[in-house]
Amino acid sequence: MAGEIRNSQIETLERKNAEALLGGGQDRIEAQHKKGKLTARERIHLLMDENSFEEIGKFVMHRSKDFGLDKQYYLGDGVVTGYGTINGRLVYVFSQDFTVLGGSLSETHAEKIVKIMELAMKNGAPVIGLNDSGGARIQEGVVSLGGYADIFYRNTLASGVIPQISAIMGPCAGGAVYSPAITDFIMMVEDTSYMFVTGPNVVKTVTHENVTSEELGGASTHSTKSGVTHFSCANEVECINYIKTLLSYIPQNCEELPPSIPYEEKADETRAVLDTIIPENPNQPYDMREVIEGIIDADSFFEVHKNFGENIVVGFARLGGRSIGIVGNQPAVLAGVLDINASTKAARFVRFCDSFNVPLLVLEDVPGFLPGTDQEWRGIITNGAKLLYAFCEATVPRITVITRKAYGGAYDVMNSKHIGADMNYAWPTAEIAVMGAQGAAEIIFKREIAEAEDPAAKLAEKVQEYKDKFATPYRAAHRGFIDEVIMPNETRAKLIKAFKMLENKAVTLPRKKHGNIPL
Ligand code: HXC
Repeated sequence: MAGEIRNSQIETLERKNAEALLGGGQDRIEAQHKKGKLTARERIHLLMDENSFEEIGKFVMHRSKDFGLDKQYYLGDGVVTGYGTINGRLVYVFSQDFTVLGGSLSETHAEKIVKIMELAMKNGAPVIGLNDSGGARIQEGVVSLGGYADIFYRNTLASGVIPQISAIMGPCAGGAVYSPAITDFIMMVEDTSYMFVTGPNVVKTVTHENVTSEELGGASTHSTKSGVTHFSCANEVECINYIKTLLSYIPQNCEELPPSIPYEEKADETRAVLDTIIPENPNQPYDMREVIEGIIDADSFFEVHKNFGENIVVGFARLGGRSIGIVGNQPAVLAGVLDINASTKAARFVRFCDSFNVPLLVLEDVPGFLPGTDQEWRGIITNGAKLLYAFCEATVPRITVITRKAYGGAYDVMNSKHIGADMNYAWPTAEIAVMGAQGAAEIIFKREIAEAEDPAAKLAEKVQEYKDKFATPYRAAHRGFIDEVIMPNETRAKLIKAFKMLENKAVTLPRKKHGNIPL
């Protein structure tokens, strides 16, 4: 016989719901606020569309009995998990609750994360992790370590299938850093978050270095020195806004195209500014960001890894409303040379774009790879090869515009047609050669210069001769290595047409288990 739900049953449910919402209790919530941090639920509230969040596993509890845990149960066990929408698109989220046992990861806490990761994979939607945790739940021992490994394994299986974004909003230490490291993008909040494999105390014992948590693994360290984080955010609200912006450029999964938004070209929109950016003196720097802004839809550049490997600029933008990924050499920093950091930064970005069907635009002004013992001994060969490999295997539409220098091996590496780019354009200011004219003349005319009555005059003559022959885009254009030499102000219009022409591009790579990128 059907009966009504009793008042006492309703009360139990309401009580449990209220208890779960309180996490580790009011005092700990206040302590969290005092540190300038939001709670796990407040973060989710800011992140998701209003009323869209549906929680999964709200009443999950741990199963441990050791070290007093038999008396410490919290509904939800230190992580809020579920799904909802951001700008109307489905996402899965987990948000660690520092008020519950320091957000530490127990067996059940890990199971909750794994559950939403598996749902995300089956349903093809991004996973966003809001991390704020003291690491493995110490009382649980190996069970907790197993939980981490279960997550790492899913992170790896999900890599290239669905976008994975990690926001670090508190401590993240020990092996716990490796889940974010496997995901596609990391964001850190300045002054309240840190990531390290071992903390300052262990560092002091082992290497006798005195270092604070912030210096060792804060947002500024990881956004400038190590490159571990892609974004450094002034506060949690900015961090959450960055997540939303990032999502707006990328598809839900590897089977979909990135979203495009309607864009109305203004009739009077002129890109003449591009004609005056390249300085007359080829050794004078300029800011590649100005070129980017001159080409893309207004205010659409979303830079990734802004303060790391600054001699290369990478980020998302829109062209006629469609998402693209941009990789540009940056002549304003180290003359735009390719070094280890620039190569690995760009390689990772290229691979993300290729995994998720984001077409690539390369803006090239590169004098070559950075010489020196430091770079050689740290493996510029292997690391530079990462970028070469990433471009070679990318099957998304790929276009290059050479704005000025395309010298040496860097010409090949920076998305040349020889390694699979679909279109290569050059501006009239392009110099496509094995090396700069000065160096080239010194080598090939060495004897003539030495034997000349006036060696300096001879050198100048030979430099000019080399420049006239090679420091132009025309040799490459005669060969068809450059498809068209275009005026800078035409670039935007040409690119919009070319990317449209390439939108149904289909390339099949040789069958293999997976390639062996030089790591
Ligand atoms: C269980 C933990 C915990 C943990 C913190 N707590 N970390 N409980 N396991 N790992 C609890 C505290 O006992 C405390 O409980 C509450 O969380 C808040 O912690 P506080 O220390 O009071 O907070 P705060 O001063 O802000 O310091 C935060 C902290 C510190 C820096 C994170 O708690 C800390 O150092 N924790 C241990 C970090 C650690 O070594 N983790 C293991 C890393 S190794 P009460 O009841 O007082 O509120 C690891 C291996 C992963 O993670 C391997 C994967 C392969």
